[in-house]
Amino acid sequence: MDDRIISNNLLIDDELEATLRPRRFEEFIGQNNVKEMIQIAVQAAKKRDESLDHVLLYGPPGLGKTTLAQVIANELDVGVRVCSGPMVERTGDLAAILTSLEPGDVLFIDEIHRLPKVVEEILYSSMEDYVIDIVVGKDSGAKSIRVDLPPFTLVGATTRFGALTGPLRDRFGIVHKLDFYDDDDLKTICRRTARIYECDIEEQAVKELATRSRGTPRIVNRLFRRVRDFADILGDGTVTIDITRTALNKLKIDEEGLDKKDREYLLGIIEKYHGGPVGLDTIATSINEESQTLEDVYEPYLIQRGFISRTPRGRVATEKAYRHLNKRHQGALF
Ligand SMILES: Nc1ncnc2c1ncn2[C@@H]1O[C@H](COP(=O)(O)OP(=O)(O)OP(=O)(O)O)[C@@H](O)[C@H]1O
Ligand SMILES: [Mg+2]
Repeated sequence: MDDRIISNNLLIDDELEATLRPRRFEEFIGQNNVKEMIQIAVQAAKKRDESLDHVLLYGPPGLGKTTLAQVIANELDVGVRVCSGPMVERTGDLAAILTSLEPGDVLFIDEIHRLPKVVEEILYSSMEDYVIDIVVGKDSGAKSIRVDLPPFTLVGATTRFGALTGPLRDRFGIVHKLDFYDDDDLKTICRRTARIYECDIEEQAVKELATRSRGTPRIVNRLFRRVRDFADILGDGTVTIDITRTALNKLKIDEEGLDKKDREYLLGIIEKYHGGPVGLDTIATSINEESQTLEDVYEPYLIQRGFISRTPRGRVATEKAYRHLNKRHQGALF
């Protein structure tokens, strides 16, 4: 199993995430544009006493898609049903969920790009007209019956916008991308987390954690927890800057927030493929990681921070990556 601090392995942190998850817009820090747009849509829907348009949220792991979906349901003051794409295997599974909704409810489908195609097709009419066609009987006796559904709001989340089919994408009225958070927002999130844990933290430590968290709330929370362990063992429980630096260095998280795996990935491109371009699958095999994980979990941040670029011929390590890893550039690319 991977023990990456940035992994999206939810099993480790389910409980932690539940306690820290903001429940209202006012607790949801950052993403101001997205938040404002959704807030207006929510208020308008409530004022008109209608169900909110379907919402699609996409972006890298840990940026708040699930959180925002729950905030939306709380603010609408409606119930929420949670499921994920691969969990809804058959059309009957989806039909059972849809027919059990109360009017106005939110249906949250995580990893919506992984819905089986037949299930996705059933979703179209339910999103558009609040009806589903269910086939009953077999062979020549089979017939389709139309079932009315209560109006509901589908909130879909995905890390891979590109993997969604056109017809599904087109059925969402509200579509937003969540971006990496800036340091100020991460500092606010870190202070909030420390407050919830009733833990004293030095302002410099807050800053250090924020800058080394890859722009990601989930990571700032995880790092905070690890650092707090060190503070309890090495000190009196106060998270100081010294303890923070010691802990993050032991965790092998560098000043840019990159961990061992990120560095392995960059070094792979630089040392084995002369800085690239090299195909995603090739690097994945060479560092024993899945291509999908590289693309969804590692690369968005590395691209955003300018460590790699994606070209039609493959991934290329940038000058910045060479500098960061203290490597001399030998190719003739730059
Ligand atoms: N805007 C925010 N303000 C404060 N905390 C946040 C915010 N967004 C996310 N978090 C924290 O980060 C954790 C991870 O967020 P969340 O589970 O919503 O991410 P996600 O985008 O759904 O990730 P994944 O793609 O892996 O499902 C939450 O439990 C919450 O504590
Ligand atoms: Mg999620």
